[in-house]
Amino acid sequence: MKTVILHNKTFEVFIPETEISVIVHSMANAINNTGMKDPLFIAVLNGSFLFAADIMRKINIPNCEISFIKLSSYIGTKSTGEVNELIGLRQDIRNRNVVILEDIIDTGITLEKIISLLEKEEVADIKVATLLYKAEAYQKEIEIDFIGKSIANDFVVGYGLDYNEIGRNLPHIYKLKE
Ligand code: IMP
Ligand code: MG
Repeated sequence: MKTVILHNKTFEVFIPETEISVIVHSMANAINNTGMKDPLFIAVLNGSFLFAADIMRKINIPNCEISFIKLSSYIGTKSTGEVNELIGLRQDIRNRNVVILEDIIDTGITLEKIISLLEKEEVADIKVATLLYKAEAYQKEIEIDFIGKSIANDFVVGYGLDYNEIGRNLPHIYKLKE
């Protein structure tokens, strides 16, 4: 399938699943080669569910663990406006070597929030691995340790990424057709 229609918009294949597989494999190799001790991978739902499942099968570091989080926002009780919290993190992550698994980093706002919340848990170290990275859109200073592929400012779907919640099941990554 070269194109798909989602919510009346047409998307075309951008990164075929064979290329995704090569990218994920090389990211896993890079992580395996760090010599990191007992890493705790933290995958950010929903978008990273397929990426996390695929990369974990290529990680061969002893005692590695994986956990899943979601960033949720609610309106604070005071006049502070929106407050963010991490949901799903049950275990004690103090002194752990954390690797965040993200599907895509765009402006970096989400990543910055996640990192500031994880830092409160007094982790030992945080590394960031993202399958896709929109270099031109990125506004933050946080260093991204493992980037699968840098892409232009296009809207993409598939392989976990959604367009208004649909398209996550697609095996390839598609971009909006001009
Ligand atoms: P950021 O906070 O601007 O870095 O955006 C991160 C979040 O926006 C990602 O985790 C995605 O959920 C969503 N996002 C950004 N760009 C895209 C895209 O091209 N397709 C689908 N979701 C995207
Ligand atoms: Mg996401």
